[in-house]
Amino acid sequence: MTHTEGMLREGSFKGKNIIVTGGGTGLGRSMSKYLLELGAQVIITSRKLDVLKETAKELESETGGKVLPLSCDVREYDQIEQVIKETENTFGPVHGLLNNAAGNFISPTERLSHRAFNIVLDIVLKGTSQFTLAMGKRWIEQKQPGTILNIVTTYAWTGSGYVVPSACAKAGVLALTRSLAVEWAKYGIRSNAIAPGPFPTEGAWSRLLPGELAEKFDLAKRVPLKRVGEHQELANLAAYLLSDFSAYVNGEVVTIDGGEWLKGAGEFNMLEMVTPEMWDMFENMRGK
Ligand code: HXC
Ligand code: NAP
Repeated sequence: MTHTEGMLREGSFKGKNIIVTGGGTGLGRSMSKYLLELGAQVIITSRKLDVLKETAKELESETGGKVLPLSCDVREYDQIEQVIKETENTFGPVHGLLNNAAGNFISPTERLSHRAFNIVLDIVLKGTSQFTLAMGKRWIEQKQPGTILNIVTTYAWTGSGYVVPSACAKAGVLALTRSLAVEWAKYGIRSNAIAPGPFPTEGAWSRLLPGELAEKFDLAKRVPLKRVGEHQELANLAAYLLSDFSAYVNGEVVTIDGGEWLKGAGEFNMLEMVTPEMWDMFENMRGK
């Protein structure tokens, strides 16, 4: 058994329909693939229908499952409502919503135009809250339970320079997660979040470590476990939080980052650079 293997038992998602925003690429694709392997029917959405169609074809042949690719800009409420309608017509009721779509790039904040700032807020905070609102209204109207899983980041609670619009938006998504976990529990709707550390994807890496930055900053070195994440590890966690196995988990944000954010937070964690010889020296000094 290793961390790169699937964790849930076969058929855990049989009969379940799950919408994954941003499901055509990166982590959304990987999580969709695992849900399909577990028996779910998956609806993948994003702005680029050609990418979605290609991914759907690949995922169907890799897993033998059923994928519905639907174009939807999460900033447009009517497109979201259309996705829910088309899903119900094709697959039947929706059981889970995975809010994974995001936009991000690095920049000193004072260099950003107000449009650049807004575009990230709109995709991440407005997009997630709009999809959640549309889905929640539908579930409440149908008297049907549902599960929401939001992908945030660890800087949702610490904040971070150079990705300030994303930090503001992810903090808002975390507040949305915790608020609705309480308010909508009475309807049988659970809300949880995952905060991933570095997981290599083309989308994130090209925008967050452009040009020489990728060589300059080896993200694995920042992580106490000295490695980046494997997509299957995240997929295992996402599947658990979307499944009935996590029926009593509500309003939680689960960090999966190898200890990365705590390393930056702990006052004396920089002492990792002290060698055993130096510790010997300090010990000898203490003894005198
Ligand atoms: C400064 C930028 C910029 C950049 C765009 N803009 N890129 N400003 N630095 N690198 C500005 C533009 O000049 C423009 O402002 C405004 O932003 C809108 O740009 P467009 O290119 O017209 O927008 P659009 O085509 O809609 O693209 C949206 C996008 C793009 C967010 C800019 O990057 C995108 O499509 N991203 C989707 C995928 C993504 O970002 N994935 C990474 C998620 S990773 P003006 O004023 O000129 O009009 C993530 C991980 C976090 O979240 C944690 C990691 C550890
Ligand atoms: P990615 O491949 O770029 O995924 C982002 C997805 O969002 C794309 O499929 C994109 O598709 C979609 N998207 C962007 N704008 C959209 C819009 N307006 N409407 C609908 N869909 C839109 O990057 P990723 O690394 O897999 O990121 C996935 C999630 O993980 C994000 O929430 C990100 O913040 C989070 N995350 C990633 C990391 C990491 O290390 N990779 C770490 C922490 C958190 P289109 O371009 O076709 O619209």
